[in-house]
This record gives sequence, structure tokens and C-alpha cells, in this order.
Amino acid sequence: MAAPLTAKSSIADWLAHPVGGPILAAMVEEGGMTTAVLKPVRRFALQRLVAMSRGRLTQDTVDDLVARVRAAEQGIPDTAQAASSTEQQPAQRGTGTQAQGGGGRGVEPAAWVERVTPGRFDGKTVIVTGAGAGIGQATASRIAREGGRVIAVDIAPDRLTELTIRLDGFDVVPVTGDITAEGDIAAIVAAAGGAIDGLANIAGVADNMTPLHEVTDQVWERVMRINVDGTFKLSRAVIPHMLAAGRGSIVNTASQAALRGSAAGLAYTASKHAVVGLTKSSAFMYGPSGLRVNAVAPGGVITSIESSFDSALGQERIGGQLESMPSLADADMIAASITFLLSDDAVNINGAVLTSDGGWSAQ
Ligand SMILES: NC(=O)c1ccc[n+]([C@@H]2O[C@H](COP(=O)([O-])OP(=O)(O)OC[C@H]3O[C@@H](n4cnc5c(N)ncnc54)[C@H](O)[C@@H]3O)[C@@H](O)[C@H]2O)c1
Repeated sequence: MAAPLTAKSSIADWLAHPVGGPILAAMVEEGGMTTAVLKPVRRFALQRLVAMSRGRLTQDTVDDLVARVRAAEQGIPDTAQAASSTEQQPAQRGTGTQAQGGGGRGVEPAAWVERVTPGRFDGKTVIVTGAGAGIGQATASRIAREGGRVIAVDIAPDRLTELTIRLDGFDVVPVTGDITAEGDIAAIVAAAGGAIDGLANIAGVADNMTPLHEVTDQVWERVMRINVDGTFKLSRAVIPHMLAAGRGSIVNTASQAALRGSAAGLAYTASKHAVVGLTKSSAFMYGPSGLRVNAVAPGGVITSIESSFDSALGQERIGGQLESMPSLADADMIAASITFLLSDDAVNINGAVLTSDGGWSAQ
């Protein structure tokens, strides 16, 4: 017999459940979609969709789903489901969704548990941009918990305050600043105090999924300024310190959009291709001087990054592609890849673009 469903049960468990599966599927279908849209989030608890959907799935709806499953299990008729349940038996619907969620394997993969490597960053100073949220925050946290001194950079001071409270007792130096502003860049380097072992260029923004002829100057300039100019300018200020020390590791943040044309709009795609160019040129130029410059290319990650579909063509072309992407990752999973590249374990890796995408790029 299937385990009782709660809001903490994963989407995969919900879809596979003989009672909960059809109820969840019907809810999705009422919104004009199919359960295929849930594939990228199937590892996550139903509850997490409340925050992730930014209001589209409310807490009341989750509570209602759980209550309806309880009632159905106790044999109380579900008026909201009466029509659809006459069309197909719950057991049949459940089997169908299980195949979709489990990819035909029948068993969901075991959950990943982060394991810190104590002392991996002992004695190292690492600048992390975008440290106030998402991937940057997870990376700053991992480095600090592994003994490093983190220069945590973000344009949003409140986010940095939250980070320092969360990492109380660890060596974290918050610097509020814009990675595209020369004065702020000087302040970031000064906060590091000259000896800079690592730089994680993570701050970045998404676009609005527009194809070339619909890209406004405002979107193009903002995306290129933060994703490309910011990465370039801060690296330009840091590299002389690394050259003087004869060592240093830089990790830039690319994306699936650095590898294909179907993952984002034109501006973001162009900006992330440029990040790969910054990475490869610098790896080639500075490799003999003891510097390593690599990039990570995440797939979909649950963070606070904001994106929108402002183009019908973008929605049609990119929206369809996104349904086939693998399960979304947690920011901690990308931090695991970034800290590996930053660390001495990646001693022989230079100029690589490491995909951290659950296999998306292999499709
Ligand atoms: N989330 C994804 O699915 C995904 C996928 C691939 C790549 N990425 C890349 O990962 C990086 C981090 O994205 P995220 O999803 O964690 O985003 P996020 O929005 O959660 O975090 C980004 C942080 O960068 C900060 N920031 C923005 N502009 C800045 C600036 N000019 N100066 C300093 N700080 C600034 C923001 O305040 C924010 O705290 C970005 O480069 C993004 O393009 C994200």
C-alpha cells in the first residue's frame, strides 16, 4: 500500500500515488497544462512549489490537495473530482504518471546529501559575487563552512545581512557593491586585502526570453553589463594579485544558455557565450602563470533569479524545450561543482566548462 501523502511528500510520490496522482494531475490540467510541466521539479516536496511558483500555487491549494487525498482514502466522495474520476480509474491514472515521473525506471533516485570537506579552504581568501542569494549564497556558505575566508559581494545589502547572520561565527566579510562599478570593484579587492586565492563570479541576471528582433536596448544593456562587463571588470582587478602570487582559481558562471540556443532569450544566451570566451581566453593566457580559470554551466536551478516570457515566439520556441529538461537542482548542488573547481582538487583543470545540469546537455 502507498505511503500516506503529505505536503512534504515529493512531487514524484504524489504523481505515483493511486489517489493523490489523479487529484494533482487534474489540478494541473485545470490550469491548461499536463503533468509534464512537473517533471523538472519531481524530486521536490509539494510544499516547496508554494515558494517556487511565486504565488501561482498557494498554501491553501496545497492544504486542500492534502485534505482531498485524506478524504478520498477514507472513502469520502470528492466532489471536485467526481467528473474526472468517472473517466479513468485512479489506479490507471497513477500508473501513467509514475511512468512519467520515474522515466520508466520505477524507482526514484536517492536524495543527495551535501558533505562538507573540513578544511578544504583553510587559509584561503575567496571573493564570491552574488553571495546574497541562490548559487552565490550557497557557494559562500560552503566555502566558509570548509574553513575559507569569504569576501561576500552583493548589490543587495539586506541579503548580505541575512547571510552574515546565518553564517555567524564563520569568516565572512560582507561587501555591498555593484560588480560593474569601478569604485565598488576597488572596495571588493581592498576588502580581500591583496591575497586573493579564489574568485567566484556568480552574480548575474536573466532575460525575458525575447528573440533578437524583440530585444530592447534596456534588456540587452542590463544583461550584458552585469553578466559580461561585471565578470570581466572584477576579474581584471583581481588577476594582477593572483599573478603576483603565482596562483589563483577563478570560476565563472555560464549556463546551458552558453551551450545551446534553446535555453533562454538572445541577450542572456549571448552574455553566457561571452562568459565562456572570457573563461577560455584567460585560461589560455594565465595557465603558465599558475592560474586556473574555469566555468560552471548549470541547468535549471531553484533560486530567486527573475525571468519572464515577454515574447510569443520566445514562449513557443523556448517554453516547449524547457518541459524536457531534467529535474531542477538546488543551489547547493551547483555550489558543490563551483567549490570543486575553486579547490585544489581541480589542480589539473583549466579552461573547462563544467556542465552541472543533471545531464541536460547530453540530451
Ligand atoms: N537559477 C538558474 O536556473 C541558473 C541557471 C544557469 C545559470 N545561472 C547563473 O547563476 C548565477 C547566479 O544566479 P542565481 O540563479 O543564483 O540568481 P539569484 O538572483 O538568486 O542571485 C543573484 C545575486 O546576484 C546579485 N546581483 C545581481 N546583480 C548584481 C551586481 N551588479 N552586483 C552585485 N551583485 C549583483 C543579486 O542581488 C542576487 O543576490 C547567474 O550568473 C545566473 O546567470 C542560474
